[in-house]
Amino acid sequence: MPTVQPSALHPEYSALHPDYPVRTERLLLRPLTGDDVEELFAYRSLPAVCRYVPFEPMTRDVVVQRLATQWANTGLTDEGQALTLGVEVAATGRLIGDVVLFWRSRVHRGGEIGYVVHPDAAGQGFATEAARALLALGFDQLGLHRIVARVDERNEASARLARRLGMRQEARLVRSELLKGEWSTELDFAMLADEWAAYRDGRTPARP
Ligand SMILES: CC(C)(COP(=O)(O)OP(=O)(O)OC[C@H]1O[C@@H](n2cnc3c(N)ncnc32)[C@H](O)[C@@H]1OP(=O)(O)O)[C@@H](O)C(=O)NCCC(=O)NCCS
Repeated sequence: MPTVQPSALHPEYSALHPDYPVRTERLLLRPLTGDDVEELFAYRSLPAVCRYVPFEPMTRDVVVQRLATQWANTGLTDEGQALTLGVEVAATGRLIGDVVLFWRSRVHRGGEIGYVVHPDAAGQGFATEAARALLALGFDQLGLHRIVARVDERNEASARLARRLGMRQEARLVRSELLKGEWSTELDFAMLADEWAAYRDGRTPARP
């Protein structure tokens, strides 16, 4: 389980400023830097990785540009912002992916997560472990009430991951958005703060 402690609950729910690196059993989560360009490019340039996500395969220039803009945040201070963290394998120091926490609404205390891993690091539970740490940051430190994951139905690995995290499928939006020239049927997964607390503490969550 992630090392973020419930004692880190933020009473005002006003901001998120994690202590880096955020440590999990096998991973370190930390802000991305200019030293990560090649490792980011290695997977974010792959069409297979980008198949069911809004972004296109990236060039090095796009990676550099993102590092200076969307990926430059090291915390969250208001809704509408996103915190992207690199996922490093502690044992090797290799950056194998990245995860993102969007702060969608201050008043509704809503958030959303996303995750990407290099295909050659897939199938080992790294993305699940990193996403779980992100849920801990969102619920325990930012005080979110509800976190969602939105998944193209054809992206079975991503849907399995959301379920593995303990998220509930709440909706199936049939051909709701155009994704790369094709209609995407979207599965919406969600988790509430009390479900997270039960899951984190090893209890069976009461389903709402
Ligand atoms: C979505 C994505 C991150 C899932 O990757 P993944 O490797 O399946 O996820 P994990 O790293 O958590 O690994 C889980 C797999 O490893 C297995 N595994 C092995 N050891 C494990 C461990 N210790 N803990 C958990 N799972 C483990 C699981 O059984 C699972 O395999 P399964 O799905 O065949 O049952 C990946 O496919 C990806 O980056 N896709 C491109 C980007 C993308 O689409 N992102 C999602 C947008 S919604």
